[in-house]
Amino acid sequence: MKALILSGGQGSRLTPFTLTTPKPLLSILNIPLIVYQIQLLKYYNIKEIGLGLSYKSDKFKKILGNNKKYGIKIHYLIEKTPMGTGGAIKYAEQFLNGDYFFVFNGDILTDINLSEMLKFHIEKKAFVTIACVKVKEPYNYGVILTDKNSRIKKFVEKPENFISDIINAGIYILNSKILDEFPDKKNISIEREIFPLLIKKGIPVFAYIYDGYWIDAGTCEKFLQATDDIIQKKYKIDFLNEKDIMLGEKNLIYGKNVKIPKDLKIKGWAVVGNKSIIKESVTIEKSIIFSDVHIGKGVYISDSIIGNNVYIGDNSVIENSYIGDKSFISDFSKI
Ligand code: GDD
Ligand code: MG
Repeated sequence: MKALILSGGQGSRLTPFTLTTPKPLLSILNIPLIVYQIQLLKYYNIKEIGLGLSYKSDKFKKILGNNKKYGIKIHYLIEKTPMGTGGAIKYAEQFLNGDYFFVFNGDILTDINLSEMLKFHIEKKAFVTIACVKVKEPYNYGVILTDKNSRIKKFVEKPENFISDIINAGIYILNSKILDEFPDKKNISIEREIFPLLIKKGIPVFAYIYDGYWIDAGTCEKFLQATDDIIQKKYKIDFLNEKDIMLGEKNLIYGKNVKIPKDLKIKGWAVVGNKSIIKESVTIEKSIIFSDVHIGKGVYISDSIIGNNVYIGDNSVIENSYIGDKSFISDFSKI
């Protein structure tokens, strides 16, 4: 069975970081977000993955490499102009041969059991199965109403009014034949156009409810939240290659060739990317420092994300901030 990961969006809710790096390649605990998905798919015996790409597509091959790096074959399916979530799936049609296939939104971190989901899909004789989760704030998602048999009666993307607290988790199983039902348009949304159309036509679309760990890491706040969740062990990592994760002492997670002094004070946790240098008397609280960052003496950073190649001068204080790549922050700044 194959899987397609939709990874072509601009990730505008994760600016400034997505100005230089596409969302699925931003790292959580120094591992690109998409690698968590690749490892999950591999764990469930998926042999080939297609990446539906558009925005900054060239960066993916550079980081994920040619095929065998993760022990799974990766196909790069590049749209000339963004085709939308539905258009991207249709564009991958030739790759997605077989009876059915998985689709993932590229910004989801989850430990969903894909075997259980597939079992459900087969038992229900579904044409489409949408993984769903229950959330407190459903308005930013695709909201779902089902009957008692888990069949979806209504799908409304980002509704203004309350419909239900069950939402689309951005993971689907589609029967390959359903692609014939996709309207022939250059840019089409699976959520706004195709799902409502299939439901209207009476095609069996089912909701598989998952109650384990799930997050859409597509905003800066959620990106920090996802990091916190992994460190708090809310997310099972048994399917990850342990060598990929370097969990140091005191919840300090660091990459390669970092310089960290003995007196670094950590409150909660700190993630430090490759080649970053930290000087003496620094405190970091629940913050992500990407790669090649210089943190001067006496700096205090909390609840923040610091982009690549940032220079932070001595004695600066940075709280609740998202600092883009290549920023220069002079001594004694307060942000
Ligand atoms: N290839 C390709 N081409 N991918 C795209 C395109 C495109 O034109 N547009 C968006 N994507 C990818 C994004 O990169 C992302 O991985 C995924 O499609 C979903 O886009 P988001 O921008 O993250 O959507 P969302 O978070 O607002 O809503 C989606 O996810 C929710 C769950 O987190 C929807 O699927 C909702 O229904 C769902 O509840
Ligand atoms: Mg999203």
